[in-house]
Amino acid sequence: MQIGIPAETTAGETRVAATPETVRKFVGLGYSVVVQSGAGRVSSYIDQAYKDAGAEIAADAATTLQNSDVVLKVAAPDAAEAALIKSGAVVLAMFAPHNNPYLEQYAQRQLTCVAMELIPRITRAQSSDVLSSQANVAGYKAVLMAANAYQRMFPMLMTAAGTVKPARVVVLGVGVAGLQAIATARRMGAVVEASDMRPAAKEQVESLGGKWLDVPMSDEEKAKALGTGGYAWVPSAEYVRDQAQVVDKAVSAADIVITTALIPGRKAPILVREATVAKMRPGSVIVDMAVSSGGNVEGSQLDQTVMTEHGVTILGVGNIPATVGAETSALYARNLLNFLQPQHDNEAKELKLQRDDDMVKPTLIVDAGHVIYKKPN
Ligand code: NAI
Repeated sequence: MQIGIPAETTAGETRVAATPETVRKFVGLGYSVVVQSGAGRVSSYIDQAYKDAGAEIAADAATTLQNSDVVLKVAAPDAAEAALIKSGAVVLAMFAPHNNPYLEQYAQRQLTCVAMELIPRITRAQSSDVLSSQANVAGYKAVLMAANAYQRMFPMLMTAAGTVKPARVVVLGVGVAGLQAIATARRMGAVVEASDMRPAAKEQVESLGGKWLDVPMSDEEKAKALGTGGYAWVPSAEYVRDQAQVVDKAVSAADIVITTALIPGRKAPILVREATVAKMRPGSVIVDMAVSSGGNVEGSQLDQTVMTEHGVTILGVGNIPATVGAETSALYARNLLNFLQPQHDNEAKELKLQRDDDMVKPTLIVDAGHVIYKKPN
């Protein structure tokens, strides 16, 4: 059975879906592996390293894909790429199914599409959780990007020329990315405050040395927050109003703001209004990590750096994981390997996807000529 790894075609994507390390493992399991020439170069994995791991190097995408029974990708294939994939192949990628226009086309080509971002958050699936692996690195990098754009320092310093005050960092949304952002900013010496609509995040923020920004919640809302399996819930108008006040006060006094609030499969909530941005000190920096899902900050622009007339910089980098491509590729590639290993039939030495497996079932968005994916309500 052949596994194909084409080069990513999305503009600005540096990641690759397999590394020499994971290729070696697949070859060890009995697969033949074909890697498109140059697929890993930008993220530091050169053709020779894949060859040394046992892969064959193919000159182009068509040659990589035409005989591959399993295709590993980072981003979903577009129409042109899907047309090159062998009919009936199993394709693993981050398909962004809620706004992917090609689902019908994949079905027509009889592809089996495994959307890695739909892996359930169950303990057994943690080592395959691509959202976590990528968000973790992105949370770290977002702080570095903010620090780089900030014209002052993060730590407090006592110098002969006077005292340097520590930077005040506010993190909104404390999931995987937010927690890593807090940890990174704290390591760099900043004073950190953070908030989330999940009350469970308070303890995590405090354990990292951050201050919890509390938004009052009714008992009904607390119950709702517990019932969503750890994801965001639909807040009441009262909660939104109270949250806006807390955010306004904290953000207007902050030097750095990192926003990470996402709602799976939907537009991101606006948390920082223009009027609040206008109150921030000149030189402050905001990183809107939700910018590709619509943004948490009024005025942020996808893949642009905006400088407001009051001198606040808003960074809207859409694909932060791609700026740390060597690391995020390594983690993503391991996520794929960890997902596929339990689906490997050792006797037949091939992939036998167990469609009823509770780790596999939620990820199948297209199978046997049909689109299975349904948008969340
Ligand atoms: P995410 O990327 O979907 O969202 C980031 C954060 O934004 C979340 O904490 C969410 O509550 C928050 N948020 C969304 N809307 C908001 C609003 N209007 N106001 C304030 N905050 C808002 O989250 P991520 O990082 O994917 O984590 C989601 C949950 O999954 C967390 O509870 C996390 O602990 C849990 N998790 C569980 C795993 C496992 O058990 N295998 C692995 C990773 C995460």
